[in-house]
Amino acid sequence: MLVSTSFLSSKNPPKDLKMLNETDTDFIHVDVMDGKFVKNKTMPFSEMKNIYKYTSKRLDVHLMVEDTASYIKNYASLNTEYIIIHVEGNNVLENLQLINSYNIKAGLAVSPNTPISEVIPFLPLIKQLLIMSVEPGMGGQAFIKDVTKKIKEAKALVKEYKLDLLISIDGGINKDTISYCKDCDMVVSGSYIINSDDFQKKIDSLRR
Ligand code: DX5
Ligand code: ZN
Repeated sequence: MLVSTSFLSSKNPPKDLKMLNETDTDFIHVDVMDGKFVKNKTMPFSEMKNIYKYTSKRLDVHLMVEDTASYIKNYASLNTEYIIIHVEGNNVLENLQLINSYNIKAGLAVSPNTPISEVIPFLPLIKQLLIMSVEPGMGGQAFIKDVTKKIKEAKALVKEYKLDLLISIDGGINKDTISYCKDCDMVVSGSYIINSDDFQKKIDSLRR
């Protein structure tokens, strides 16, 4: 199981990012919120671009914003493996093409109430399908068990279309909810890891 660690709930990002850099987390999950697509707002890009000072890990960038194209341009300039946009947003096709034009892997996120079938037209353009197991907008929310049926649906699509596609899940992942996510390729976990004093131990508990 791959683990992507979100530092959204961190009270001291420089310190926690440095500590995460010493773990074997596969990616740093960067949640980006603009106060429009979702209510909350994360730090501006002018601040986030300094992330390289604290971590050499590849970034898994989750955009929850309205003006998606301008964020894609910015985040494409960092040490970025994936840029994930929401299928519920505007200009999805153009924005996925924009991500791919930077040779960065594109991902699509589906909110809890969005059917997985919405992603079908975009499958040839993406390398990650992110199933949201909480409403996007903040860390520390409870896992919505009902979304786990989407994992099976996503796996069926991978098989049917013979896709090279990573299935991931984001929100409320901890040692108790991980059992529902065994069929995923990657889990995103935030507060469970960040609010602990042993990041590696928490990451290990999600891998097995
Ligand atoms: C929610 C974010 C998640 C969240 C994960 O909008 O996309 O990445 O921060 O944090 P936890 O694990 O605390 O739910
Ligand atoms: Zn996220």
